[in-house]
Amino acid sequence: MNIQYHEELKIFKLDTKNTSYVIGVVDEEEFVGHIYYGKKLDEFQVGYLMRTEEAPFVPSKNNRDRTSFYDCFPVEYTGHGVGDFRDSSISVKTKAGHSAVCLTLKSYEIYAGKKKLQGLPATFGEEADCSTLELTLWDKVLNLEVMLSYTAYRELDAIIRSVKVKNCGQESLVLTKIMSMCLDMDQDGYDMITMHGSWARERHVQRKAVGLGKQSVGSVRGESSHQEHPFLALLDDKATQESGNVYGFHFVYSGNFLAQVEVSQFDSLRMMMGIHPTDFAWNLQAGSEFQAPEVVMVYSSEGIGQMSRTYHDLYRNHLIRGSYKDKKRPILINNWEATYFEFDTDKLLNIAREASGLGIEMLVMDDGWFGNRFDDNRALGDWFVNEEKLKGGLKYLVDEVNKLGMKFGIWFEPEMISPDSELYRAHPDWAIAIDGRTPSLCRGQYVLDLTRKEVVDYTFESLRKILTSANIEYVKWDMNRQLTDIGGAFTNADSVGEFYHRYMLGVYELQERLITEFPNLLLENCSGGGARFDPGMLYYSPQIWCSDDTDAIERLAIQEGTAMIYPLSTMGAHVSDCPNHTVGRNTPFETRGHVALAGTFGYELDVTKIPEEDRTMIPEQVSMYHKYNDLVRTGDYYRIASYHENHFYDCYQVVSKDKTECLITFVQVLNRPNYKNRRILIKGLNPEFRYQLEGSELVLKGSTLMHAGIMVEKLWGDFRSKLLYLKVVQ
Ligand code: GLA
Repeated sequence: MNIQYHEELKIFKLDTKNTSYVIGVVDEEEFVGHIYYGKKLDEFQVGYLMRTEEAPFVPSKNNRDRTSFYDCFPVEYTGHGVGDFRDSSISVKTKAGHSAVCLTLKSYEIYAGKKKLQGLPATFGEEADCSTLELTLWDKVLNLEVMLSYTAYRELDAIIRSVKVKNCGQESLVLTKIMSMCLDMDQDGYDMITMHGSWARERHVQRKAVGLGKQSVGSVRGESSHQEHPFLALLDDKATQESGNVYGFHFVYSGNFLAQVEVSQFDSLRMMMGIHPTDFAWNLQAGSEFQAPEVVMVYSSEGIGQMSRTYHDLYRNHLIRGSYKDKKRPILINNWEATYFEFDTDKLLNIAREASGLGIEMLVMDDGWFGNRFDDNRALGDWFVNEEKLKGGLKYLVDEVNKLGMKFGIWFEPEMISPDSELYRAHPDWAIAIDGRTPSLCRGQYVLDLTRKEVVDYTFESLRKILTSANIEYVKWDMNRQLTDIGGAFTNADSVGEFYHRYMLGVYELQERLITEFPNLLLENCSGGGARFDPGMLYYSPQIWCSDDTDAIERLAIQEGTAMIYPLSTMGAHVSDCPNHTVGRNTPFETRGHVALAGTFGYELDVTKIPEEDRTMIPEQVSMYHKYNDLVRTGDYYRIASYHENHFYDCYQVVSKDKTECLITFVQVLNRPNYKNRRILIKGLNPEFRYQLEGSELVLKGSTLMHAGIMVEKLWGDFRSKLLYLKVVQ
């Protein structure tokens, strides 16, 4: 077992391949404290590291039951309102109005494997993969149990944490805050990495020094959001892609979140992550439980790159499910940027005919095929075919596409309802709204109240009906607005604080039902581009549309941030037409192809209308995809240079697990006068293997390629790119 308890020392030690996480129990009260998280330790005798010292200003000794102890002690999970004045992990409201919680150890259990989280997305693992420690803490006065769960993977440097609360008392209480993890560390000159953005500009990486006080990212939009990402990394201020300590924290959840770092007066650092406490209040009846979502913690002593690769391996093998998990995805062509709402059967078939001849494997019909959806002001919720556009019906179209040897995919936005829709006229109370207040419109639409079973059932039935009416093999599940005006016909003063989380449970239930009933369906999540690109959604769909920005240059920073935590196989990336519809930029078709190859790969253009010289490049791009996708999907990702940082060029590579091949993508964003070819140091090769650079006679040892590098020829013009492929020779 890679988790052990030392009875005498009262120390729990959790080991992964290269890391240890150590927890100690102190005092007669049995406070549970944090001792160590870092490089692997061989022994248990590290209790001396436990900070039980009292604050320097405390005049008397043996003062443990006073705030001096609580406010210094590095806890595994904090109570509230009893003397630790740093931010708390949990708080409650009792019938008498009290909020205090004081937690000590009640019991523990260690077992092989990992349990499912009821109703929530979660990483998984068999007995051979991981072990779990469950520490049950309790507040003796409230008779409230707080079960901290830690799963340590054997071969991956990942520890998964979650929290479950059970009210064992006689009285109901309200849970007003519940973080999924808390980690108290010594403040040691850390930087923090977070991701920020906007629509069409998601997950731009920000790195800055951790300062005194609190700093955080979060969302109260009802989705993980375009603006801030449920991820935070703490790293040595000198850490690079290859060196230094890095601690990553990633929330497996798609709704409101908070990730917060707090540096206290005693130079300690508290990291917390969980559901955002704003507007959260969960009723815990006597005997009932609440399960909070999980956080994936990854520690790397070898820089940011190693953290990325651990997340990639964990998500590829222990989060993503379904029949496409380990499979190459069909190259798709999506008609959104090609036609927007103006399409009909003939137009789509013309695109499909041309596309199939070029080697494209699936047609995806985007928004606009249902109800009277002629623009984005109407018809969401009316999931029946618009026969004015789709003459002959959906099955006819799908059959014709299938006859071309192509698969067919379809777009839905199941969580929404337009005020101008048959659904709204029949069920106005199904939209989220506060009685007496006109809810804010966003993109002309409201959100369905998925906290209600009948709404979830209706939505599922609508999807099921369409999906069984023709041979539909792919669904793009979109979600194009944030949640506001939280209320609804069945929401009252007691339940409104449960709304955001219950909404997410409704979404998760819908997607679980969908992939259970249609196990061979390829599901791609999307949210106005990448507003819900998070590990929660990855549990249901193996890929997510990365951003509505398809410009190859804008995509560099978006895909860099995304690939820092997510495997390339999950990033929806397409080649689109120019001038780009979001930024008006013209880039070479070749560059657009190279950048999209780092993701799922597909097209988002009217292939009957693009310039001939672009169209003739498609078969070549298609064969590049087939040649490189196994490597891109399954290999180890290394970042060499970041355009986001250097403002001139971008470079990343993927090395196969057996280190026999390596693909390097180089994008020269801006050309410069008076500089020559660029030297690139390759990473992650086997130093002893000999590699040949495709298209050249050059055969070099891995060590030479890594230490001395290769030369990338200067390219003429801006926005130019080049792929370099290394393969082992005997
Ligand atoms: C969102 C998606 C786009 C497209 C439109 C359709 O913006 O991200 O890809 O599907 O909706 O309305």
